[in-house]
Amino acid sequence: MKILSVVGARPNFMKIAPLHRAFSKHPKITSKIVHTGQHYDEKMSDIFFNQLGLPKPHFHLGIGGGSHTHQKAHVMLAFEKILLKEQPDLVLVVGDVNPTPACSIVSVKMGIKTVHVEAGLRSGDRSMPEEINRIITDAICDDLFVTEHSGLINLAKENVPDEKVHFVGNVMIDSLVHFRKKAARDSILKKIGVKSKEYILMTMHRPHNVDYEKGLKDILQIIKNAAKHKHIVFAIHPRTTNNMKKFKLDKKLEAIKNLTLLGPQGYLQFLKLMDNAALIITDSGGIQEETTFLQVPCMTFRDTTERPVTVELGTNFLMQDLNPVSVKKQMEAILKGKTKKGIIPPLWDGQTSERIANILVEKYA
Ligand code: UD1
Repeated sequence: MKILSVVGARPNFMKIAPLHRAFSKHPKITSKIVHTGQHYDEKMSDIFFNQLGLPKPHFHLGIGGGSHTHQKAHVMLAFEKILLKEQPDLVLVVGDVNPTPACSIVSVKMGIKTVHVEAGLRSGDRSMPEEINRIITDAICDDLFVTEHSGLINLAKENVPDEKVHFVGNVMIDSLVHFRKKAARDSILKKIGVKSKEYILMTMHRPHNVDYEKGLKDILQIIKNAAKHKHIVFAIHPRTTNNMKKFKLDKKLEAIKNLTLLGPQGYLQFLKLMDNAALIITDSGGIQEETTFLQVPCMTFRDTTERPVTVELGTNFLMQDLNPVSVKKQMEAILKGKTKKGIIPPLWDGQTSERIANILVEKYA
């Protein structure tokens, strides 16, 4: 059985790595990787291939950025050519980034079995580009692999037949379990001069938070408040860096005391930074899950989450807005120890990729 797995943007790489490893071990599977090129530079893409032990992609579409329509349309045209040439038995897509629905549509229309890993997540907020990507992908794929209980409920509400849905756990946690020990040996803390549990780690990149001057100014105020309590390590996303410059706030950011500004980090460095942080402030999707597994408190700057298990069972707190006053209160409470211990959600055990490989072989090989 020949499986083509699609990656495009940073959060895909740590999901495909354990799947490719499990597929490659299976005598009945040939596994190939297509990179659409949404994230293309060393720090957002290449470093992950090196650190996660992924082979060089078998196909690179080189589509790059641009508007979502531009990205999706170009990915679809290029991906169709690959499918015609390769004739895979199965296409696998992960997550909710732009290539996820784009490649699913092409593959399903060509009559190729298409499966979605990390299916069923819903924030209920259709202004998030990822929410539309999730709905489209789940509506058309043949098999849906679900990470948490809410996914089962959401898919049932959308009338997806039970036999398509598989509750298997979380492939991103497979990567975390596999690489945690290796990450622990990384020298990033020493390199930037911080000690375990003595800093707050921060990321921020959602258009909703960083594409507007007000959001960026609130972020500056939040960092200033936080920096009074602990050292801040900000692993800043290119979108946020660009917008700080655009609104002429970059110098103000750089001038904040008790702040270390880092660019995007490699997988191992970021895992080490997460594992040793006193608190994480973010608006990411995946970090909510990783901090839940690591049992590190996380404040997520979003009104909604498509990953409610991280709030219900895990260590995640949703912050309804960027209001620096309410953020300050919550942060001080967490730093004083008023936090949740959290438990690890069912099946987040490092074995999800093997489960998926076995289901696919049983069903299609
Ligand atoms: C995308 C995903 C988002 C994910 C995020 C993680 C969608 C709809 N969004 O958002 O779900 O959480 O990736 O990073 O797919 N850039 C670089 N180098 C690169 C790639 C991008 O500098 O290799 C810069 C470009 O200036 C680009 C900006 O980052 O304009 C944003 O990239 P884009 O892929 O449009 O969206 P993300 O915000 O990264």
